[in-house]
Amino acid sequence: MCGTIILREEKSEMNKDQKVLYSGMQATGNLTLGNYLGALKNWVNLASEYECFYGVMDLHSLTVRQNPAEFRAHARELMMLYIAAGIDPEKNCLYLQSSVPAHAELAWILDCFTYMGELQRMTQFKDKSARHSDNINAGLFTYPVLMAADILLYQTDVVPVGVDQLQHLEITRDIAQRFNSIYGDVFTIPEPYIGKVGAKIMSLQDPAKKMSKSDENPNASIFLMDDPDTIRRKCKRAITDSEATIAYRDEQPGLKNLFDIYCACVSKTPDEAVAEFAGCGYGQVKEAVGEAVVSVLKPLQDRVKELQKDKSYIDNVIKTNAERAYYCANKTLRKVKKKVGLTEIR
Ligand code: TYM
Repeated sequence: MCGTIILREEKSEMNKDQKVLYSGMQATGNLTLGNYLGALKNWVNLASEYECFYGVMDLHSLTVRQNPAEFRAHARELMMLYIAAGIDPEKNCLYLQSSVPAHAELAWILDCFTYMGELQRMTQFKDKSARHSDNINAGLFTYPVLMAADILLYQTDVVPVGVDQLQHLEITRDIAQRFNSIYGDVFTIPEPYIGKVGAKIMSLQDPAKKMSKSDENPNASIFLMDDPDTIRRKCKRAITDSEATIAYRDEQPGLKNLFDIYCACVSKTPDEAVAEFAGCGYGQVKEAVGEAVVSVLKPLQDRVKELQKDKSYIDNVIKTNAERAYYCANKTLRKVKKKVGLTEIR
């Protein structure tokens, strides 16, 4: 293991002039098209410009009760999805958050630099506690601090996320600035990266709501592993409006969302999409959106199925990348501990 760590260390030293990108997703099943278009797709597009770390955020997922066997399987599946989407585990660090104890350790230290009032203002905390009123645990409340620890441990410059994570990025920056103002420049202050299209994909059944893996209506979300017919059917059933006008505007949120999905899948601008469908009915738009989504998701699904056959390959990715993440994270953690006055025993 030591040998590998030294090798990884050399790689990190080599890349020290390169900016760092960090992102991740909760390790739950049923990822949606929103997760893909709002985050994963941008990760792939940005990967060559940065030194990248992508976490499978299994500690965050513990705020909701998990079935242990299913949970372990979901974490592996998410790792496969990252790879299937085009993230090369040789060039980027894909790892399980729980395999690097520094995340939980830094989160505790940062908890002590975060105010209750700040956490009480988090809209995701308010939404989630309203939805899970039987399990409003302390982890749900301090969730943004763990996320701040994830990001700050790697001296991150940029964090590609969907719009719903912006508030968590703001609190991360606030915590980092507060810490730096006391102890000097310990943390890099990260910037969010929001894609031009797809940053907020809405429910197909209620375009006022975000497309979400926990939506009770299965027709509201396209799941990444939905088969092509299911994808086409869900697009066909998407809620639009009675205006019968092809336009990209807030007053027609259902159609706007379909255009957002289409544009993100085929790399067009909304103006180009509106021009393409001028004079068409909504049925034709829905059909084209269905085909565009299938053409993006089918190759991804095929690659996941291939990866599922190779257990030892994923095991190896999990192990070797954990070592690299461990090394980088601990470099920052050691600095933080020294700054706050914790005793280091070597
Ligand atoms: P999570 O797992 O809810 O979502 C993962 C990513 O998908 C984006 N996303 C969407 N984008 C557009 N439209 C949607 N409907 C949609 N739904 C989800 C999210 O914005 C996110 O980028 N707290 C994070 C996970 C996390 C993290 C981190 C992210 C933990 N630590 C550090 C970045 C950096 C979360 O719950 O994402």
